[in-house]
Amino acid sequence: MITDLGGKKIYPIGFGTWRMGGDALHSSHNNDKDEISAIKFALKSGINVIDTAEIYGKGHAEELVAEAIKGRDREDLFITSKVWPMNLKHDSVIRSAQGSLKRLNTKYIDLYLIHWPNPLVNINETIGAMEELVDKGLVRNIGLSNFGVNDIKKAIAATKRHNIIANQISYSLVKKDAEDYLIPFCIKNKIKIIAHTPLGKGSVMKMKEVIEMADKYEKKPVQVAINYLMKKSLPIPKATDQNHIKEILGSVGLGLSQ
Ligand SMILES: NC(=O)c1ccc[n+]([C@@H]2O[C@H](COP(=O)([O-])OP(=O)(O)OC[C@H]3O[C@@H](n4cnc5c(N)ncnc54)[C@H](OP(=O)(O)O)[C@@H]3O)[C@@H](O)[C@H]2O)c1
Repeated sequence: MITDLGGKKIYPIGFGTWRMGGDALHSSHNNDKDEISAIKFALKSGINVIDTAEIYGKGHAEELVAEAIKGRDREDLFITSKVWPMNLKHDSVIRSAQGSLKRLNTKYIDLYLIHWPNPLVNINETIGAMEELVDKGLVRNIGLSNFGVNDIKKAIAATKRHNIIANQISYSLVKKDAEDYLIPFCIKNKIKIIAHTPLGKGSVMKMKEVIEMADKYEKKPVQVAINYLMKKSLPIPKATDQNHIKEILGSVGLGLSQ
């Protein structure tokens, strides 16, 4: 179970915001009220990690997060955002981070991730810019997302002053291939795994084995699925429905064996 990230105490499940506030191409204000309520409900329930990105809702997801965290002690929260692969040149990284900070209405981002590797931009340039953001206090920690072992090695080699603390990858009961090589490599290099799409967008709850396990232990399929991931990662499911959030919270402490 991951309960510490970048030196901050965290709840062992985070909260995703993809598809809140629109998609990658459009902002949408249609569901603002429900989406802000969902984030607030997750926070009230004890979740303190929120995952967002500059691309989500073309920035609007970050604005929803800003609204939901109003009035909370910022030090109790762990906010992750991500720079899009088209913005990995030095000045673009700085501009993207400044944009995210403004939309999030916060003085710092706890964890800033390179959303996807981009082979057209030298990783030294990107990591250099991210380290500058840490030096200025605008970002507390740096990390990667969707990086394989070779790209992680290049990113580690590019660091000068700050370690890469996390790699956010697609990891779920319908996508476990990372267990063979990528996850052991990250653990060995003190890089924590953040599991995105941990419910396979809902598909894991339809797996026969998951349903059988849930029946056997009188739990919900979602709880079996998330509890499994908590052994090696920090899962960050997204849910707008508050009953879904309540079910997700019931994943902690099931004590299922591997
Ligand atoms: N780094 C990356 O490249 C990357 C890529 C993808 C995702 N992510 C991050 O990972 C987060 C999670 O991934 P995701 O949003 O794509 O998919 P996901 O978390 O695997 O699945 C979300 C879906 O599951 C449903 N759900 C949640 N709890 C449920 C429950 N108890 N019972 C039934 N259905 C339930 C949600 O419904 P409702 O919304 O209706 O409640 C939603 O439709 C994202 O939001 C994002 O922050 C990162």
